[in-house]
Amino acid sequence: MNGAQGRDPDPDPDRDRDRDRTWFLTRFRRGRARTPRSLVGGGPADRHTLAFDGRELPAQPGQSIAAVLWNAGILAWRTTREGGAPRGAFCGTGSCHDCLVTVNGRPNQRACLVPAGPGDTVTTQEGTGRAELGV
Ligand code: FES
Repeated sequence: MNGAQGRDPDPDPDRDRDRDRTWFLTRFRRGRARTPRSLVGGGPADRHTLAFDGRELPAQPGQSIAAVLWNAGILAWRTTREGGAPRGAFCGTGSCHDCLVTVNGRPNQRACLVPAGPGDTVTTQEGTGRAELGV
């Protein structure tokens, strides 16, 4: 005899659906979502700012300058030596040098690798970033 044939039909077919709905509502109500961050009570600590071409941008400890710029919706922050084409982060690993910026007056810093320090002054870089040398 087939086991399924001998069983009584489920007396309350909506029971599982209601149980799932209750489980969902107790855990994911609006504004009360349980996330890994909320479970441990963590959050970004010691936020600071940096200046990018005169704009104050929020930064968090450990963020790269490229991450800060992306977070602000800035995708290009230098131009190429020939043609002046816009560039931003490409590889994100320090290999391509597309993300060069001037940080605190030092040109050719890779934004994807340099951590955003409190009060850093970052500026777009045109060409080699060494216009004063006439290179
Ligand atoms: S994005 Fe390629 S070196 Fe920074």
